[in-house]
Amino acid sequence: MKLMDSNLVFKLVLLLSWVLCMSIGLIKCSVTYDSKAIVINGQRRILISGSIHYPRSTPEMWEDLIHKAKEGGLDVIETYVFWNVHEPTPGNYNFEGRYDIVKFLKTVQKAGLYAHLRIGPYVCAEWNFGGFPVWLKYVPGISFRTDNEPFKMAMKGFTEKIVNLMKSENMFESQGGPIILSQIENEYGPQSKNLGAAGHNYMTWAAKLAVGLDTGVPWVMCKEEDAPDPVINTCNGFYCDNFTPNRPYKPTIWTEAWSGWFTEFGGPIHNRPVQDLAFAVARFIQKGGSFFNYYMYHGGTNFGRSAGGPFITTSYDYDAPLDEYGLIRQPKYGHLKELHRAIKLSEHALVSSDPIVTSLGSAQQAHVFSSENGNCAAFLANYDTKSAARVKFNNMHYKLPPWSISILSDCRNAIFNTANVGVQESQMQMLPVSADMISWGTYNEDLTSLDDSSTFTTFGLLEQINVTRDSSDYLWYITSVDIGSSESFLRGGELPTLMAQSTGHALHVFINGQLSGSGFGTRENRRFLYTGKVNLHAGRNKIALLSVAVGLPNIGGHFETWKTGVSGPVVLHGLDQGKWDLSWQKWTYQVGLKGEAMNLNSPESISSVNWMDASLIELKPQPLTWHKAEFDAPEGDEPLALDLKSMGKGQVWINGQSIGRYWTAYAVGDCNGCNYAEAFRPPKCQLGCGEPTQRWYHVPKSWLKPTQNSLVLFEELGGDPTKIAIVKRSVACVCADVNEFHPYIKNWQIERYGKSEDFHKPKVHLRCGAGQFITSIKFASFGTPTGTCGSFQQGTCHASTSYTVLEKMCIGKQRCAVPVSDTIFGQDPCPNVLKRLSVEAICAPMTTARG
Ligand code: GAL
Repeated sequence: MKLMDSNLVFKLVLLLSWVLCMSIGLIKCSVTYDSKAIVINGQRRILISGSIHYPRSTPEMWEDLIHKAKEGGLDVIETYVFWNVHEPTPGNYNFEGRYDIVKFLKTVQKAGLYAHLRIGPYVCAEWNFGGFPVWLKYVPGISFRTDNEPFKMAMKGFTEKIVNLMKSENMFESQGGPIILSQIENEYGPQSKNLGAAGHNYMTWAAKLAVGLDTGVPWVMCKEEDAPDPVINTCNGFYCDNFTPNRPYKPTIWTEAWSGWFTEFGGPIHNRPVQDLAFAVARFIQKGGSFFNYYMYHGGTNFGRSAGGPFITTSYDYDAPLDEYGLIRQPKYGHLKELHRAIKLSEHALVSSDPIVTSLGSAQQAHVFSSENGNCAAFLANYDTKSAARVKFNNMHYKLPPWSISILSDCRNAIFNTANVGVQESQMQMLPVSADMISWGTYNEDLTSLDDSSTFTTFGLLEQINVTRDSSDYLWYITSVDIGSSESFLRGGELPTLMAQSTGHALHVFINGQLSGSGFGTRENRRFLYTGKVNLHAGRNKIALLSVAVGLPNIGGHFETWKTGVSGPVVLHGLDQGKWDLSWQKWTYQVGLKGEAMNLNSPESISSVNWMDASLIELKPQPLTWHKAEFDAPEGDEPLALDLKSMGKGQVWINGQSIGRYWTAYAVGDCNGCNYAEAFRPPKCQLGCGEPTQRWYHVPKSWLKPTQNSLVLFEELGGDPTKIAIVKRSVACVCADVNEFHPYIKNWQIERYGKSEDFHKPKVHLRCGAGQFITSIKFASFGTPTGTCGSFQQGTCHASTSYTVLEKMCIGKQRCAVPVSDTIFGQDPCPNVLKRLSVEAICAPMTTARG
């Protein structure tokens, strides 16, 4: 009982110092650090953190997300600060709605969690322009993220604005608030190296600016090994166990433990197996790391035009423990929760000493931490990617699966192994709901009627963002060519070819009002050459190029100077005269769409045009078309999405709120399975090849009214809006796969808690979504089943009562727990064999459950 007592004492001390700190005047709340850890009110802490970016969900979702994060074992919520949403034009600030960062942090505080505020103001984050407002690019003489006075002045202004806002709301821990850590800049190291002295000067200036703001909490710089004292340099990556801070008196901090990866239109979905993520975290902790942050814990949605780019999808799901919709992703969430519990049970030993490392085999090690008052925690690691290992530690034997770490929070009992996932796996489905779309109407974005007041004409091709200032994704480049009636192609010869060089991101070519073809770059290679036959006629022909930005770059050296739009040359080939270079002739420009100028997406202005009643016209896929419809909000609590598989590319709004960009681009990748054991890289575990990269678009519940919601889409290519459906995200089936306890743990449990206490036995937990019930057991086997969720199979050992036991205990229930032990299944189907219980259960709404 010694272990429990000292853990209890440890917790009580923490609680007491918190209470004392909060009772003004007793002692000052403070955050410092030493070589081992961040020190809060005199206590070294192992801190578990997760990224939740406030603009990527709605304020109505925040409390639930943060609560789930807390339940998942987190101590800290990390967020970047997104400059471009807060200062859309110089000096005009916006901290409302999704941008209400103070409200977000107060929600974190209310939940009893800490916050890490990564101010940047460069944030990367797959966010438009890396978080910089586009106007910043037009400050005279500016050069981003280097020793440049205009940039430094602007950065100082915004950083001070944020710090002062936080101070005025008492948000720093030194003031009794939740913020225990702040970040300046973001991954500046590589950039600094490229820039030499200018980089170094800027970096030291940024550190000095931060420290001078006197927040009373430490500052970090991630991926910046030269970070000057007292700023702590930290690590970002899939693994950070090779990382050591630049001074021996700084703690080892992992600011971005990538829980998955982002997606780009046309690419596959990247999954990171939880066994590997847990392994990476355990490796970091055993090395002496004391603060780690999941990037992302909830990824969320890139609403509006906030996605970075180009080509970052609207979904920023990230395979995070909380999915895009805020639902718990199993088994990721649950397995990490158990990891966190094991780490927390070891906390006292972890913060008390450096590990003593011993070899347990050719690819096996033990890391042992101990404290003066007798706490001991051990991490037993097997780095072998192929074979399990049986190791001997403190005269006991332990089995370690490949690529795994067992945590012994008392140096004796392996309470957790990173590769043994004992928690339920949920498979989600997107179910159509009855929400009829009525009153369809269409409106053509008719480019013949571009009116002169909104266009201008000049010689040559202009850079897109210089013209649009990113007020719209769209820029029209329009010119005309006169074709003589004697051209040979007019008499049956081969049609001429138009070649247009673009620096991205997408281009639609219209010849005399007809879509002639489209071209797209990729994230890696934004430049592309559009080549296509053009159907010209004798006389004047109008060539209209619609250049489309799909998110401004968020990463790369001086990305603010990268060009977007039709760069030229634009050339016609195949005319009798040979090649005709159009690049330097007169071009007429229009920023944005007519429909945008008329605010067609907003319910107030929707009636400003005559929509064609879609029931009266043949709805064939039409490029450059606005569509509108109305629908009533579906019933139920599940999160909602729009199924846009039938559409091409464009943007979508509900009740005037932008859901984001959509694009039914099909994923190209290598989806040949995924083995958790081996160093993870995003290409390793891909899903969804051959499917649209993104088919479903999150519709936040709070954006809906009970009736008459307006849906508006702008479609660039074509598509069938009548097939658009509203779907709800719900649990389809749940699986669990849990080992019975190894005999020695069994004996130890019995010795400690008595035989009758099945409370301490391992259990299969099955839980359907809210309002759902288990309707059938698709698979159940207590014995030696094999396979994974969806493809379980009976092994040589199988208890014949498996199905009946599970059916009896689970059917008709929303959740059930079944102990994994032979007593429950009548008799032991194969004595002296370590058994497991694998189950797959089907979930359905209550009505279906009752038949
Ligand atoms: C990091 C960066 C993050 C994010 C991440 C990838 O390098 O700091 O902001 O972009 O990569 O998701």
